[in-house]
Amino acid sequence: MARTPLIAGNWKMNKTVHEALVLVAELMPRLHGLAGVEVAVCPPATALTEVNRALAGSAIGLGAQDVFWADSGAFTGMLSPPMLRDVGCKYAIIGHSERRGRFGKPDECLNPDAARVFGDTDASVNLKLKAALKHGLVPIVCVGETLPERDDGLADKTVAGQVRAGLADVAGEAVAGIVFAYEPVWAIGTGRACDAPEANRVTGVIRKTLHDAFGSEVAQAVRIQYGGSVNERNAHDLLSQPEIDGALVGGASLDASRFSQIVQATSVIAKDTRKD
Ligand code: 13P
Repeated sequence: MARTPLIAGNWKMNKTVHEALVLVAELMPRLHGLAGVEVAVCPPATALTEVNRALAGSAIGLGAQDVFWADSGAFTGMLSPPMLRDVGCKYAIIGHSERRGRFGKPDECLNPDAARVFGDTDASVNLKLKAALKHGLVPIVCVGETLPERDDGLADKTVAGQVRAGLADVAGEAVAGIVFAYEPVWAIGTGRACDAPEANRVTGVIRKTLHDAFGSEVAQAVRIQYGGSVNERNAHDLLSQPEIDGALVGGASLDASRFSQIVQATSVIAKDTRKD
């Protein structure tokens, strides 16, 4: 089954509204008319409304970097799925390792007590995922192991466990519409991407986990991205792997030229694959 790759830019805590609009204005002409690839940008919440306005009529989708599970209520600082739909979001990133308090760069690790401010757990990811689906947002669910987990031979177990726990009580037909992102924590923001064959292998572990829980049709329909130091140089290698259906891009998505090159590489791969 052909899966359309999704390249999503996770801008994280970067860009004022003005800077966000400059970036989008640079991106739109560069990405106009590209076939075989779906593109999304996930600006900070403060810029969602204006970026949505700027994207009107373009094929670039809008995503949020997080979402809360309740529709409304006394949840200071949180944003609900209806609020995100209201400002034009189609996607919501859920359970990013930074929101789980798991950081790849040791010098940026917060002390464990402070890191709890991010707070996501498998249980909260599951609630957010179900709320996003209920309100028609496409969840981009992030999973991935830390370096100590990898060194202890626990990468596959960690990732499979996060997938299973995130999907608790989710029906098979809904799972097909979810996007997963395999983001090894040690590769995020470090400039050290996972080797393409290894990224493909772990992505395959995620698909096998989906297969065992929901069957082959669902597993083959689900898109699984890779994320972690994706750039314009390694994109082709990573994105031509058979299990990898796009990328969740951090640092390189903050620059129109770099992000466009990643999208273009994906479009070329999609075209080549069609020819085969
Ligand atoms: P970098 O591309 O900066 O490594 O970030 C990856 C990421 O965390 C995307 O969600």
